Amino acid sequence: MTDSRGTLAGRRIVVGVAGSIAAYKAVALVRLLGERGAVVDVAMTPSATQFVGPLTFESLTHRPVVDDVLELDADQQIAHIELAEAADAVVIAPATANLLAVLAAGLVQDAVSAVACASRAPVIVAPAMDAGMWTHPATQRNAETLRGYGYRIVEPEVGSLASGLTGVGRLAEPPTIVDAVERLFARAGDLDGVRVVVSAGGTREPIDPVRFIGNRSSGKMGVAIAEAARDRGASVTLVAGVMSVTQPRGVEVVDATTASTMREAVLRHAPGADILVMAAAVSDFAPQRASGSKIKRDGSSLAITLVPNPDIIAEVGEMPEEVRPFLIGFAAESDDLEANAAAKLRDKGLDLIVGNVVGGPFDAIGSDENKVTVFGAEGALTDWPMLPKRQVAERLWDLIADRWRAARPAEPSEGQARRSRRR
Ligand code: CTP
Repeated sequence: MTDSRGTLAGRRIVVGVAGSIAAYKAVALVRLLGERGAVVDVAMTPSATQFVGPLTFESLTHRPVVDDVLELDADQQIAHIELAEAADAVVIAPATANLLAVLAAGLVQDAVSAVACASRAPVIVAPAMDAGMWTHPATQRNAETLRGYGYRIVEPEVGSLASGLTGVGRLAEPPTIVDAVERLFARAGDLDGVRVVVSAGGTREPIDPVRFIGNRSSGKMGVAIAEAARDRGASVTLVAGVMSVTQPRGVEVVDATTASTMREAVLRHAPGADILVMAAAVSDFAPQRASGSKIKRDGSSLAITLVPNPDIIAEVGEMPEEVRPFLIGFAAESDDLEANAAAKLRDKGLDLIVGNVVGGPFDAIGSDENKVTVFGAEGALTDWPMLPKRQVAERLWDLIADRWRAARPAEPSEGQARRSRRR
């Protein structure tokens, strides 16, 4: 961003602080938000005030801190309701495991949960806790529930924790949280009305009623892409292969567990869509014939003939220009990322391809993070670090939306817009 100071000028932001040792980082967060022009109010849970005194925040913001749900402001209004209604965004940092549970359950127990519950503004939650607490299924389920409410979660980072142990659970650094806030305002609604199809997860090609050929894809990247598009206002169809993550809310989900059903679903929904992102790991081969009954072990070896599956995205690439969406593929490569991605872009008729490394120490499969490079016809377009998949998704949409718009005439008729999408 060229002028980051003014990016939040005049925005009303409520920072909610919960009782974690990381509460001290909220001081830096409040300062950074203020430097970018935001009007910041702070709400605190009672235990947060044990870690950082309200006076610290009041000195920075020159505004009263709300730390009591029964508090009235100078006009005798209920302070947390006033804040909730005025807020353009609510940023909860740090959020404890307990607060995530409270928010997920819709409980109002303190000024922070009261503001979050009462506000219609977007909510960003940055958790901080012990690694065991963060990875506990209950906490993960609560985080998932909050994502379902449309809350953005700024993932905790790996590092040394208050316990003295090292693990995931450390509050994201204040600049990372500010980045999430800036992105919220920069992109809100920038895909309003855009029709997006995303495929995610892996396929399973049956060998017999109980066995299959599959792959390790979790669907996390594709789901993050679908959720990010949804949050920017797109109408999203998710063609969901086999995934280890919960299906997102607020998008149309079409289940497709084999390459052949995925092909049918994509070919049904892609024509007329504006953008197709093919993040699914489609099996390249399927058994020539799936046995109708379970294959028995009889001591002899078993040969299965595999036949190639059709290349789905390449078929979409060959669609007539009037119906062909802007096409983004993925290239999962263990070697020669750039050369292989460029060849796939060309051979499959894509507009962009997202290259990621699989296998080895940077293996993207199943991970919550990914390091990708996006390629266009002119070569590599990005140099992004390893990022949480949701952040990768946000950056991808920044790029895709720009490129897709640039490929359309200024005031297009529907027909012109479609014709122009193919470069
Ligand atoms: N793809 C597809 N249909 C297939 C195989 C892949 O639509 N039958 C899509 C993937 O969703 C991805 C892109 O093509 O967007 C590249 O997938 P990838 O597995 O990296 O490449 P392949 O073409 O399968 O080549 P290879 O496995 O030999 O690297």
